[in-house]
Amino acid sequence: MLTIALPTGRVMRNAIDFCEEMGLPVAKLRETGRQLVVQEGDFRYILSKPSDVPLYVSHGVADIALAGSDVLRECTVDYVELADTGRGQCQIVIAGPQKLRVLFSGHPSELMWLKVATKYPHIADSYFSEMGVQVEIIHLHGSIELAPTLGMSDCILDIVQTGDTLIANKLVVLKEIAPVSLRLIASRQSVSLKWQQTMALLKTITTPKGETSYEH
Ligand code: PRP
Repeated sequence: MLTIALPTGRVMRNAIDFCEEMGLPVAKLRETGRQLVVQEGDFRYILSKPSDVPLYVSHGVADIALAGSDVLRECTVDYVELADTGRGQCQIVIAGPQKLRVLFSGHPSELMWLKVATKYPHIADSYFSEMGVQVEIIHLHGSIELAPTLGMSDCILDIVQTGDTLIANKLVVLKEIAPVSLRLIASRQSVSLKWQQTMALLKTITTPKGETSYEH
């Protein structure tokens, strides 16, 4: 039995497609409604909020998982990264109103004490700390674009995929920070105890090129 944690939400379809490409049975998984644990043959899938996926791995509940590199960069738990699937591509960016462009193209000291809303407080903290800039980080859990729109923050640090949410909220990309894709990860324990099963999956992986990303 191999237990696989998968993220729900926007990348769930990418994750299921990838499981199918690895030769895993996914018929029930595609039909699932609100069910959070799905058993198919020798495989058990756990469907989790994306930011919680690495926790199921680090606690040894899931043997392997698919998690976004944004989530992995934000979390501090223990896991082994097996492969970059190349799927579910997007970007971590700083975005805000057009008028902030001039600040972000100037000296970093111009950014001192900006209010930055984000669901990635660790990534935001390390990004600005590395520049030697102190900012105020406002930790939100979703709909981040609301913060600058309502004047609660100057800008946001968030992921952008199609760019539609930014456009709809009159925001623009001010700085690209890092590309994001779905990664195949495993628990340390499973890598040693279920090595053959894990290797059999890894052999099937191919990385797609040129998956669409946002343009700006
Ligand atoms: C993410 C992200 C942006 C949006 C970007 O939110 O936080 O809001 O997607 O996608 P786009 O560039 O394709 O428009 P998500 O939909 O995951 O929901 P959330 O705001 O509740 O976190």
